[in-house]
Amino acid sequence: MSTVAASIPQANPGAGYHALKGEIDAAVARALESGWYILGAEGRGFEAEFAAWLGVGHAVGCGNGTDALALALRGLGIGPGCSVATVSHTAVATVAAIEMAGAVPVLIDIDPAHYTIDPAELEAVLAHPPAGLPPVRAVIAVHLYGGAADLDAILPLCARHGVALVEDCAQAHGATLGGRRLGTLGEVACFSFYPTKNLGALGDGGAIATGDAALAERLAALRQYGWHRHYVSDAVGVNSRLDEIQAAILRVGLAHLDARNARRGVIASRYDAALAGGRIAPPARRPGGVHVFHQYVLRLPERAAAQATLRAQGIGTGVHYPMPVHLQPAYRGRVALGPAACRATERAAAEVLSLPMYPELSDADVARVCAAIGSL
Ligand SMILES: Cc1ncc(COP(=O)(O)O)c(C=O)c1O
Repeated sequence: MSTVAASIPQANPGAGYHALKGEIDAAVARALESGWYILGAEGRGFEAEFAAWLGVGHAVGCGNGTDALALALRGLGIGPGCSVATVSHTAVATVAAIEMAGAVPVLIDIDPAHYTIDPAELEAVLAHPPAGLPPVRAVIAVHLYGGAADLDAILPLCARHGVALVEDCAQAHGATLGGRRLGTLGEVACFSFYPTKNLGALGDGGAIATGDAALAERLAALRQYGWHRHYVSDAVGVNSRLDEIQAAILRVGLAHLDARNARRGVIASRYDAALAGGRIAPPARRPGGVHVFHQYVLRLPERAAAQATLRAQGIGTGVHYPMPVHLQPAYRGRVALGPAACRATERAAAEVLSLPMYPELSDADVARVCAAIGSL
């Protein structure tokens, strides 16, 4: 009787927990025993360690990556009367956060090789914003799948037009460009610690990083009712705090993040080798950058058939993302697009396929995926 090989999920946050279980359990116990559960020593410790690891002056923990983006915009003074340019090929959170801040999103198409904002179209929109929209005051560059947006082109554009650059680093913890970590290049950077992220909590979590001390102070107040001192709201804030248990867990994850990202890189190289010489191209890496493979994404016009073939071999896949934000029912017909009308975005949404990618994939799992994709 033949045995059916165990299935390989596309993402597996539980495996991440089990890989670090001893350290995580001890950290959770420490947080529980402390008797202090919100904005205490674990949160402050994580913020300091994360800022030092990133190479930036300040990190402010918050409830999740969506809030991080909305708070960052608010901290920069961007809200009603402002437009914010970003992409439609992203987690809906990026666009939702712009509206949470009271601003108007303008969605720019992607460069299809890297799936990140097209600087040429961005330049056109900064020079001539779509009719009827308020002026563009910020750009959210999403570093999608673990690779950098083209900041070498975008930074000078933002400087020339007096527009703030917000980096959406929800998928790019540890990635670099020109030797610097993503999240240190714009005015402010936003991170998600959703459990499947390269640095994941075991619940929700987020952080905002900036070199600007005054901005960090405003953000620390905005995340907690606008308090600069207890019970006194100097600004209208929200409640979006990183709790002590998640902060303690994140401190463990941070200590292992570089090694775990390196393992993702090894897995990506093996997938590349399996595809070499075939008709499916491996994902592009931006020259001068280190990609951290939050996702390993292929382009396949016959995606459904490929997914079925892999599923039959017990290999899970994902699609990030099947429906661009501008086509989703909540946004369709009312969200502004740049002149390219997101055509490359729509093509990508129809063809992208994410392979299993997490550090705990065993060499045997990786070999199975390689054999399967080599014969697609
Ligand atoms: C690119 C991007 N931006 C923002 C977010 C929002 O993060 P969260 O789910 O923690 O709110 C995510 C995560 O889903 C994301 O992938």
